[in-house]
Amino acid sequence: DWTMASFVETMRDSLPTLIGDGKVVCGLSGGIDSTVVAVLLHKAIGKQLHCIFVDNGLLRQDEGEEVVQYLRRHFDLNLKYVQAQDRFLSRLHGVEDPEEKRKIIGHTFIEVFEEEAKEIKDVQYLAQGTLYPDVIESVSFKGPSAVIKSHHNVGGLPERMQMDLVEPLRELFKDEVRKVAVELGLPDFLVWRHPFPGPGLAIRVIGEITPERLEILRKADKIVHNELMASGWYYKVWQGFAVLLPLKTVGVMGDERTYEHVIALRVVDSVDAMTADWTRLPPDLLGRISNRIINEVKGVNRVVYDVSSKPPGTIEWE
Ligand code: XMP
Repeated sequence: DWTMASFVETMRDSLPTLIGDGKVVCGLSGGIDSTVVAVLLHKAIGKQLHCIFVDNGLLRQDEGEEVVQYLRRHFDLNLKYVQAQDRFLSRLHGVEDPEEKRKIIGHTFIEVFEEEAKEIKDVQYLAQGTLYPDVIESVSFKGPSAVIKSHHNVGGLPERMQMDLVEPLRELFKDEVRKVAVELGLPDFLVWRHPFPGPGLAIRVIGEITPERLEILRKADKIVHNELMASGWYYKVWQGFAVLLPLKTVGVMGDERTYEHVIALRVVDSVDAMTADWTRLPPDLLGRISNRIINEVKGVNRVVYDVSSKPPGTIEWE
């Protein structure tokens, strides 16, 4: 893609001038936006970039490590993997309200990130994967937008840490970020990864979050992911995942009555997440996913499929 090739080239040429010899810190989430930001900056300023990946204990199975391993194998960059699972999970103990969960996770992330950034010393810039739709949503300002924004324009993390923002993707739409990712040679699993919410599995374990319930969801979610991949549906849908419900239902196994958890499957088609429709997956695929979850995930005896559109339903359940 010619336009995106020249975008990559322009960034590689202009970022070193804009940044000078300052240090840049970048939070990696495992998603495409932050990964593209990190690779673009790495190509432009090399070791002046410091990446931080915070494991909040709410990631899908293997998902964080996959991206980190990929980056470590292919790029010689400063990358710290921070194990903060216990801090997040202990703060979430006993919390059931979705907005409360989001707040706790947001604050804890800022706290951990700030600690790690301080260790790097004299960081001047914070790199973020802000896209054009975020820009038009948050400010009425239109016109030539700057890749670097002074810290006093924004609230939250950069303000507290007195850093300026570096936002190389702020003129791009999501589909263009994917093209840039292809241009940078990033692999399909990254380019076509489904969106994953910042609060992670915390908002897919409905109600109280415990290590046991997270483990059940992770196993079920992995099966959903693998079956969508194997059948080719993963790349056709917007998002597909499992949700653990806060109830138990009666089942039967052999001569025994069981009383166990319910998993809901949520698979949707969408173009921008503003509206969505449930995906008409083939009944055989739904059956295979259900059988595998019930047979392979201890503690689950029932699987249901969500057939709600957005609106009025949302994509996530919390
Ligand atoms: P809803 O559930 O509102 O989700 O239909 C729309 C899209 O946004 C994602 N989502 C989030 N992403 N933090 C995020 O970073 C959040 O708190 C959050 N909640 C929902 C969701 O996965 C979907 O792609």
